[in-house]
Amino acid sequence: MFDHRLSVAPMVDRTDRHFRFLVRQISRKVRLYTEMTVDQAVLRGKAERLLAFHPEEHPIALQLAGADPQSLAEAARIGEAFGYDEVNLNLGCPSAKAQREGYGACLLQDPQRVAEILKAMVGAVRVPVSAKMRLGLEGQETYPQLARMVERFAEAGVRVFIVHARSALLAFSTKANREVPPLRHGWVHQLKRDFPHLTLVLNGGVRTLEEALAHLVRVDGVMMGRAVYEDPFVLAEADRRVFGLERRPSRLEVARRMRAYLEEEMEQGTPPWAVLRHMLNLFRGQPGGRLWRRLL
Ligand SMILES: Cc1cc2nc3c(=O)[nH]c(=O)nc-3n(C[C@H](O)[C@H](O)[C@H](O)COP(=O)(O)O)c2cc1C
Repeated sequence: MFDHRLSVAPMVDRTDRHFRFLVRQISRKVRLYTEMTVDQAVLRGKAERLLAFHPEEHPIALQLAGADPQSLAEAARIGEAFGYDEVNLNLGCPSAKAQREGYGACLLQDPQRVAEILKAMVGAVRVPVSAKMRLGLEGQETYPQLARMVERFAEAGVRVFIVHARSALLAFSTKANREVPPLRHGWVHQLKRDFPHLTLVLNGGVRTLEEALAHLVRVDGVMMGRAVYEDPFVLAEADRRVFGLERRPSRLEVARRMRAYLEEEMEQGTPPWAVLRHMLNLFRGQPGGRLWRRLL
C-alpha cells in the first residue's frame, strides 16, 4: 500500500469523491488525494459528509490543513478511523484565507511549528503522515534552506515528502502561484540524492506520463494535478507503464462504469451534475469529444 510512484494531486473543487472514483476506473494503482480539508471542519462534526469515500478508491490519502498540532492530530485520528491510507499536511496553499487562518504555505515561515504539528500527527496515527510543501516563500528560497526544512520535518517522523517545485508568493493569487514562480524540478531531484532514505515525490507542471516516467528515474514518485483533471485519460497507460499491470481501460468501459455509479449515487440523493461535471473531459481530444461535453 506504500507506493507513491504516481499520484493525483489534491485539488479543491476538483478531487472530490466523484472525480476520484472516475480516476480510479482509469488507474487501479495511482494514489489519490482528497481536496484540502480544514481540521476544524472535521472536528466540528461534519466528518461523515467530508470524509466518506468509496471502497474502490484505495489507495487514498486525506489532505488536512490547519495550524494547531492537537487539532490536526485529532483530525488525523478521525481520518485514519475512516480508513484513509495516509494523512497529508498541506504546506502549500497560498490563499488569503489560508494566511488569515495561519495554515498552508505561510506555515513554512515557522518550520519549528510545522515540526511540532507533524510530530503530533505522526504520534496520533499508524498510517504514514506526509507533507506537501513548496520550495520556500516569496521567491527567496534557497536549496540549503529547503534541505534543512526537510531534515527537520523528517526528524519529526515524516518519511514522505511531496514537493511542489515552486516557491509560494503570499501576496499573489492562488492561480498566479501555480504559474508565476519558476519550476525547479532539479531541487527535488537533489533532495532525493541528499535524503535517499526518504520518499520524495515531485509535483508541478508534469503534463504527460512520459514526463512522469523521466522524473521517476530520479525521484520516488510524481504527482500530477491539472493535466489529469483536464484530460483524465492522460493516465490511460499508468497501470501498465508505471505499475506493471496488464491493463488499459477504454473510455467506453469507463463511461459504462460511471453510468452505473451515477445511478447508485442518484439513488442516495446525489445530484447528477455532481458526478457528471467531472466527466466532461473524458473524451477530450477524441472524435465526438465536443458533442459529449454538450450532451452532458
Ligand atoms: C483547482 C486547484 C485546486 C487545488 N487545490 C489544492 C489543495 O486543495 N491542496 C493542495 O495541496 N494543492 C492544491 N492545488 C495545487 C495542486 O495540488 C498542485 O500542487 C499544483 O496544481 C501543481 O501541480 P500540477 O502542475 O500538476 O497541476 C490545487 C490546484 C488547482 C489547479
